[in-house]
Amino acid sequence: MPLSRIAMAAAIVLAGATLADKTAFAHGDVTPQPIDASELKQLGKEWLSENPYRGDPKAIAIGASGYNQNCARCHGLEAISGGIAPDLRYLELGKTGDEWFLERIRHGKKNSEGTTIMPAFEGVFSQEAMWAIRAFLESKHEE
Ligand code: HEC
Repeated sequence: MPLSRIAMAAAIVLAGATLADKTAFAHGDVTPQPIDASELKQLGKEWLSENPYRGDPKAIAIGASGYNQNCARCHGLEAISGGIAPDLRYLELGKTGDEWFLERIRHGKKNSEGTTIMPAFEGVFSQEAMWAIRAFLESKHEE
């Protein structure tokens, strides 16, 4: 193969690789990072409607790490949103906020075209891990 053709082939391969990277990024297709909540009181299979760990420092610490690894890329580090997704410091406190939080984290959200704008985390994180994140978010709450 003449040199120029080798160069061209290389350029095409490179362009393809760059395109693939961009596509993966645009779809937000990022592997979830596991959250180990085994140190917390275990909750069983029934979904609770209220956070059993509210104010628990251990849950808040587990939730902070889980949040920063899995939610911050859209909702902002330490729950301070950069504008891509809602600022979760303003979620309502208490049971009403708990129910809304659980609904969203379990099922995610699709837009009107059916594109996922927030991934569903049911089956990915345990109920314990989800409530730990909620405990962290309440610790950051602002009116
Ligand atoms: C790929 C981006 C993305 C990731 C990752 C993501 N979210 Fe979201 N989230 C969104 C968007 C966008 C919305 C707004 C959905 C809507 O319009 O109703 C949202 C909405 C929410 C809401 C409802 C907020 C409100 O004010 O109504 C909660 C709660 C929430 N997300 C929690 C989380 C948690 C917890 C995680 C991590 C486990 C997470 N999200 C990960 C994009 C994301």
